[in-house]
Amino acid sequence: MSTKKLVINYEEFASPSEMLPEDQELVRLAVESQKGSYSPYSHFQVGAALKLANGLIVKGANQENAAYPSGLCAERTAMFWAGANYPDVAMETLAIAGSDHGVLCESPASPCGACRQVMAEYQKKHKKPLKVILVGSKRIRKFACVDDLLPFIFDSLSME
Ligand code: THU
Repeated sequence: MSTKKLVINYEEFASPSEMLPEDQELVRLAVESQKGSYSPYSHFQVGAALKLANGLIVKGANQENAAYPSGLCAERTAMFWAGANYPDVAMETLAIAGSDHGVLCESPASPCGACRQVMAEYQKKHKKPLKVILVGSKRIRKFACVDDLLPFIFDSLSME
């Protein structure tokens, strides 16, 4: 038996002004996308902005349903739309911003396990790291690839 250690790398910014201009734009669009949130049950509005390799930025927002499991997280609405409409274009950067009752969370909302699994799938499909930006009002975190959010990813290789 041996004990192993796993290191997760990420960058943290105190405000968008510390970020690259293209990332600042994604942060802005993720917050703006919250307007499309349909969240009458949780009152938690999540917006997502997904930049594709062709430069297109796809927006998403969480969509809830009276039958709770029928809803979908913001980031998956964006990724599935991109996957359906631009199946051959890699996903480069995904920014996510969550607000509770209209107030942007101080510490960034973190994507659920199902969303991380979907991110991992597209990263693997396109053979390109998918960068993830989690937006909070007091801090913003940037991950260089999905592996840093979902270690020991289950992917198609696991089935071979
Ligand atoms: N939600 C997202 O859209 N993305 C996340 O990363 C976390 C959670 C949504 C799902 C649900 O509509 C609401 O936030 C409360 O869980």
